[in-house]
Amino acid sequence: MNTYVTTPIFYVNAEPHLGHAYTTIVADAYGRYQRLKGNTVRFQTGTDEHGDKIATAAEAAGITPQAYADRVSAMFRAVCPPLQVEYDNFIRTTDAAHQRVVQAVLQKLYEQGDIVLSDYSGLYCQGCERFLTEKELQGGLCPDHLKPPVAITEQNYFFKMSRYQGWLIEHIKANPDFITPERYRNEVLSFLSEPLEDLCISRPTSRLTWGIPLPFDKNFVTYVWFDALLNYLSGLGYFPEGEMSAECSHYWPVAEHVVAKDILKPHAIYWTTMLKAMGVAPYRKLHVHGYWNVNDTKMSKSIGNVVRPMDLVEKYGSDSVRYFLLREMSFGLDSSFSLAAFEARYNSDLANDLGNLFSRTMAMVQKFAGGKVPLLVDGEGESTELDRQLIAAAHEMVQEFCRQMEEFHFHRALQAVWEVVSLSNKYIVSNAPWELAKDPAKRGRLHLVIYNLLETLRLIALPLNVVMPTTALAMQVALGISGRQNLAAHGKWGGILQEGAVISLSTPLFPRFDQADAVSPVAGQTKPQQVKAPKNAVSSSAKTDEDTLITFDEFKRIDLRVATVVAAEKVAKSDRLLKLTVEAPERRTVVAGIAEYYQPEEMVGRQVIIVANLKPTKLMGIESQGMVLAAKSGGQLFVSTVSGEVDAGSKVA
Ligand code: MSP
Repeated sequence: MNTYVTTPIFYVNAEPHLGHAYTTIVADAYGRYQRLKGNTVRFQTGTDEHGDKIATAAEAAGITPQAYADRVSAMFRAVCPPLQVEYDNFIRTTDAAHQRVVQAVLQKLYEQGDIVLSDYSGLYCQGCERFLTEKELQGGLCPDHLKPPVAITEQNYFFKMSRYQGWLIEHIKANPDFITPERYRNEVLSFLSEPLEDLCISRPTSRLTWGIPLPFDKNFVTYVWFDALLNYLSGLGYFPEGEMSAECSHYWPVAEHVVAKDILKPHAIYWTTMLKAMGVAPYRKLHVHGYWNVNDTKMSKSIGNVVRPMDLVEKYGSDSVRYFLLREMSFGLDSSFSLAAFEARYNSDLANDLGNLFSRTMAMVQKFAGGKVPLLVDGEGESTELDRQLIAAAHEMVQEFCRQMEEFHFHRALQAVWEVVSLSNKYIVSNAPWELAKDPAKRGRLHLVIYNLLETLRLIALPLNVVMPTTALAMQVALGISGRQNLAAHGKWGGILQEGAVISLSTPLFPRFDQADAVSPVAGQTKPQQVKAPKNAVSSSAKTDEDTLITFDEFKRIDLRVATVVAAEKVAKSDRLLKLTVEAPERRTVVAGIAEYYQPEEMVGRQVIIVANLKPTKLMGIESQGMVLAAKSGGQLFVSTVSGEVDAGSKVA
């Protein structure tokens, strides 16, 4: 089976933000899911580069529209790899091949009488780049741009969309899954219950020159939507008349478009009727999602709350961003982004639930099974009801994940996986492997428990390939699994893990992040206060309200000491951490999040101030017996010290 999945092509008048990233991640995850099923997938994204908006933005930037489009299009392309978005084709509407297709389609529809010249008077909104109907206005303003449209009368070319209205209604009614979720299908049907007006598909060159010239009248350029929608076919090498290209006949019949609700009408009505007029079958499905707001407010440049996906990726890693976006939004409904929600999910679902399950299991394999997939000896280690429950749940998880992915219910697909993550954590507690390990007679049972956990982790990693490719790969590598994974071949319990295979030592999947280092990904948004500061955090900015005051007795409980650094080294696989050996005066190890600001050799010989009575905690597998104090200012970090040399271990009070 083939699949052709597309994102909208994005306007190049704004930099990529969270909303663009979401659609693209959805399309990428769906493509990865289809590949995991063994299907052949083509995934296309790209940029929409003509029209008023781009011409105006280029003028403001003082460069040509083409130079402007080149610059911003490159940004959209550049965010893909860090988001682990693997497209097969990145299309630009300024590509010569695309422009030829647009002109050929226009010519064909003109010749067959589907495009006609006519007078038009109407209310034009520059933001929307279209004429608005009286009905669409709210208080005389465009509801999206909150500006009054301008009254314009001009000659223009019109696509006779109304000819295909009856056919479109029938098609939607006969194909319940054509537009999903259902609310959007209903919205389109309700819109179609009124007669359609014909679509103005030209702009006079007196008003706009940044567009594709109409092949039959040089006084006009093509309306940006007529141009843009054709990307889905031109990107497959389609050309009107003549044979369909191989790519086209493979992929067009299975085209699935992913868009947000803002562009439902162009996709459900303009595009379908254009295709009908062209004599091309409609796409297979239109998947419509809701909008991301930020802290319950519309994301907008003027409010200054635009979330930049790259900031999130740099701070939390792209797997976490992909997970959050797909887990948090119910596809079809609006959702609100906040750093607090992001960090809460990161800590609970990723660092605690999945991260702990993985590291606990890996630690048990090392400790109780010699670092290998345990050998299961018949007769030893009888199965229990708990085992049967876990196996059944892991099995069902894969099925449920697939069912939900087919429906674009990403949040439910992930919920299904996390149910098993949570069951596995309970399985560990109920079986208490550390107790089993104390009794040599229970060795068989201990090994069976460990095997079951490893196999469950393997099955958990399988669907995660779709959403969190790096994490899934890290889990698979640790489990000794290599090669292309496939849902049918690898989605069943047992038979894949090799008994006796070495389980590699691995780093934690999701280290808890250090909030003090947080870069705010939302311009102008302060970091959430309610998220617990991780254990190794250096001090955050001072607060003075009553609730934060402590008594002298409380302060006295904190044992601050001067410590002399006698050795320092980088912590493997961490960009942030240095392992310091200090004397205070006894020797101890302190892991500090300062590696981005200090080289190990710069630290040796320094005196720092540490919290000496902090409960020891493990960071990247190293026990840290204290915390180094530091202050951050102007993007730099400065470790605290005393103004003269003092005895190591001197109390700071
Ligand atoms: N160029 C047209 C699309 C042409 S497709 C043939 C366009 N471009 S756009 O840059 O405005 O992108 C709109 C799309 O970006 C939305 O449909 C959606 O996919 C994504 N999003 C933009 N803002 C969004 C949110 N706040 N939330 C979710 N997705 C949003 O329209």
